[in-house]
Amino acid sequence: MSRAKVVSLANQKGGVGKTTTTINLGAALALLGRKVLVVDSDPQGNTSSGLGVDAANLEHHLYHCYMQQVEATQVVRPIADLPNLALLPTQMDLVGVEVELMDAKKRERYLANLLEPVLGDYDYVFIDCPPSLGLLTLNALAASDSVLIPMQCEYFALEGLSHLVRTVRLVKNAYNQKLFVEGLVLTMFDRRNRLTYQVQKEVFSHFQDRLFDTVIPRNVRLSEAPSHGQSVLLYDKTAAGAVSYMALGKEFLKRQEKKRH
Ligand SMILES: Nc1ncnc2c1ncn2[C@@H]1O[C@H](COP(=O)(O)OP(=O)(O)O)[C@@H](O)[C@H]1O
Ligand SMILES: [Mg+2]
Repeated sequence: MSRAKVVSLANQKGGVGKTTTTINLGAALALLGRKVLVVDSDPQGNTSSGLGVDAANLEHHLYHCYMQQVEATQVVRPIADLPNLALLPTQMDLVGVEVELMDAKKRERYLANLLEPVLGDYDYVFIDCPPSLGLLTLNALAASDSVLIPMQCEYFALEGLSHLVRTVRLVKNAYNQKLFVEGLVLTMFDRRNRLTYQVQKEVFSHFQDRLFDTVIPRNVRLSEAPSHGQSVLLYDKTAAGAVSYMALGKEFLKRQEKKRH
C-alpha cells in the first residue's frame, strides 16, 4: 500500500498565503487526479471555512482527534464538487492543544500518530499551520516529510525566513530525521513593484531551485473565493489566481517525479 507524502505549509508570519495555498494547491492536485487530504491545523479554521465546512457546528473536529476521543477517519469529510479532496476540519477549540498537551509525554507526536491510520488513503496530505512556531506547528513538522513555505514579497520577509529554516532544522535533528524544506512559493506577487523582484532574487540566491518558478499574483478572486466556501479553481477557474495555482500544482508534481528518479 502506498503512503501519502505529508507536507506542512508553514511560515510563522500571518497573512502570507499559507491557507490560500493549502486550499488551492490541494484543489489543484485533486483536479489533477491525486487523492489529497487537507488538514486544518490553525485554530482560526480558515481552511475549513474556505472549503465550505462550518466546523463550529461539527460534533467532532481535529481537537477531538488530538485528545484521542475520535479517530481521524471519523472526522475527515469530503469536499463538495472535488471528489479527490478531503478535509480534516478545525475550529477554535484547537488552541486548547497548546495548553493541554504542554506537559504530555511525546507531545510533538500527537498529530503524526493520529494521521498514521489515514495515510494509506491519500497521495498527499497538506497541513495548514498557524502563524506561530508553537506546539501545533511543532506537531505538523514532526508529522511531515517536508515543508512548503509560502512567502509574501515584502521587505522583512527574509528575516522571518531564517528563523523558520532554523526551526525546521531543530525539528529535524530532534524529532524527524526525514524533514526537509520542499520549496518556497512567492505569493501576492506584484509585477509593478520593484521590491518584489529584489526579494525574488534574494530568495533565489539562498534557496536556488527550491524556489518554485511559478509565482502567485495578487488576485482579488483569491480573496473572494473563501467567502463562497470554494477553492478559486471552482469559484472562477479562469482567474489569474486559479491559473497560477493550477500551474503551481503541475510544477509541484513535476518536481515530485524528478525526485523519484
Ligand atoms: N495571491 C493573493 N491575492 C490576493 N489576496 C490574497 C492572495 N493570497 C492570499 N490572499 C488574501 O490575503 C489574506 C491572507 O492570506 P492567507 O492565505 O489567509 O494567509 P495565512 O494563512 O498565511 O495567514 C486572506 O484574506 C487571503 O484571502
Ligand atoms: Mg492561515
